Amino acid sequence: MSHEGLIVRGLSVARAGREVVRAVDLDVLPGRITALLGPNGAGKSSLVLALAGVLPLLAGTVQCGGTDITGRRPESVRRSGLAIAPEGHRVLAELTVSDNLRVAASSLPRGKWNEERDRIFSWFPELTGLMNQQAGSLSGGQQQMLALAQTLVGTPRVIVIDELSLGLAPIVVSRLLPTLKDVAASGIGILLIEQFTTVALDLAQDALVMVRGVIRLRETTEVLQADPSLIQVAYHLGSGETKLRN
Ligand SMILES: Nc1ncnc2c1ncn2[C@@H]1O[C@H](COP(=O)(O)OP(=O)(O)OP(=O)(O)O)[C@@H](O)[C@H]1O
Ligand SMILES: [Mg+2]
Repeated sequence: MSHEGLIVRGLSVARAGREVVRAVDLDVLPGRITALLGPNGAGKSSLVLALAGVLPLLAGTVQCGGTDITGRRPESVRRSGLAIAPEGHRVLAELTVSDNLRVAASSLPRGKWNEERDRIFSWFPELTGLMNQQAGSLSGGQQQMLALAQTLVGTPRVIVIDELSLGLAPIVVSRLLPTLKDVAASGIGILLIEQFTTVALDLAQDALVMVRGVIRLRETTEVLQADPSLIQVAYHLGSGETKLRN
């Protein structure tokens, strides 16, 4: 498949000498949301860190916007149009909201900033009145909104979001995540890792289930919503096979 989004082929990653991501193929198409589901320790965050250029690849290739970014460093990955909010990403608490966004925009041409800011405000109007506040003084939900906004600075082709909702109340999550639909409608592709599976399936068109480093299931969210037991079966297939291996 050839497209301007994210194309991952045969990606493997090791941590502490153990292969935790195994031969993963994955496409994130422009304007579409793909949910990546899987139990704790499945390897989702390790995959994300490898895509970000933080963890080395054992094998495989990564392409974004038609550029081969296999093995590139984080800055170079970002320049290709792949923006990543890794698990546990935090805003810079000492800086103002405005400066947090400017840090993310630092590689942009000067004139672009105003345009970027207007686009960010259209998605997150709440940030407009908070620009001069210290990021550390914001609520958890506002901080995650800012983290998401940072990812969107510079009009990436694809964003990867790893558990943005961790520690947030469901009501806050239900404000934050639907914005992703508008983001995707603007043409940005999204890989969404989200503990609230129902919310993820509502937002996404495609879903992948990862178990023990392997993609066990690829389906449209329509099919998974009609038969949620498919996800459970995929989870158990993983443990069953593991038992056989051990
Ligand atoms: N810093 C680390 N050093 C060594 N092994 C690690 C490290 N972080 C994670 N692992 C291991 O890598 C495997 C995959 O973990 P990973 O965090 O990628 O899973 P995950 O799918 O993101 O899980 P969760 O849903 O809990 O976030 C697990 O076996 C985990 O124990
Ligand atoms: Mg994780």
